[in-house]
Amino acid sequence: MKTFVSRFKRVGRRVGTGLGLLKPRDVDLYPGSNVGDRVHLRGVVLGGNNSISHDTSITGKVAIGYASTIGHNCVLVGEITIGRYCQVAPYAAAYATNHSTSCLSTYVNKRLFNRELQRHNRIKPVEVGSDVWIGHGAVILPGVTIGNGAVIGASSVVTKPVPAFAIAVGNPARVVGWRFPKEIIALVQELAWWEYGPEELRKIKEVFFLDFVNDVPGTCEVLSKAIVTLKKPC
Ligand SMILES: CC(C)(COP(=O)(O)OP(=O)(O)OC[C@H]1O[C@@H](n2cnc3c(N)ncnc32)[C@H](O)[C@@H]1OP(=O)(O)O)[C@@H](O)C(=O)NCCC(=O)NCCS
Repeated sequence: MKTFVSRFKRVGRRVGTGLGLLKPRDVDLYPGSNVGDRVHLRGVVLGGNNSISHDTSITGKVAIGYASTIGHNCVLVGEITIGRYCQVAPYAAAYATNHSTSCLSTYVNKRLFNRELQRHNRIKPVEVGSDVWIGHGAVILPGVTIGNGAVIGASSVVTKPVPAFAIAVGNPARVVGWRFPKEIIALVQELAWWEYGPEELRKIKEVFFLDFVNDVPGTCEVLSKAIVTLKKPC
């Protein structure tokens, strides 16, 4: 987690109004990013060029990778790591903490013993890879890991790890399919296009416009070429 977070730039620009705990000095921490109205951010580290839409709350240790976008009315409570080029649809939530269910009470609010009972909270970090699409209203529970390229269906409740490039839906979320056949998944993982910025990705722009499932005989060759193009030094 530490290594991952340290790769992020603490920078930003354009912010909305009514930002809960965002202090004026914090505004400089998010250059290149858009933050909507009534967004509540505390402890978030952005990779740059992010968008966080209105009425979203992100607290605790949360790291959001380059170009990832968070829809409106989302709730993210860290420790959470989200990779690059992810899209989180409106009303989605991810929590890395459970209240203890084995103590006298699950109540940890400051109104009883001034939050001292929070020491029993159990933090299980949530880790989301890159190019992950999280559907409207999905809930990601503590300790869940979601691999690169995965899709989480609308309103799903994710309780278990979701492998890379799986399509997982339902409550509890189950893998109902895969975005691509196995050999293509392996090549896309090798390509790891999400590690690059838009400028470098222009070199393989045409690959983004292909449909890997329906109309590309020779997809493997196309991807193999893209790997060479993207990885070769300038
Ligand atoms: C996950 C999703 C992408 C799958 O789309 P798809 O690949 O076209 O899948 P299908 O519609 O063929 O569904 C496959 C199966 O999963 C089920 N299913 C699909 N999405 C589901 C969901 N969100 N919850 C529960 N079951 C779902 C379907 O009923 C179907 O079941 P069956 O095989 O028993 O008939 C899509 O259903 C979804 O949830 N999209 C999110 C939309 C959204 O939130 N958009 C926000 C824009 S940012």
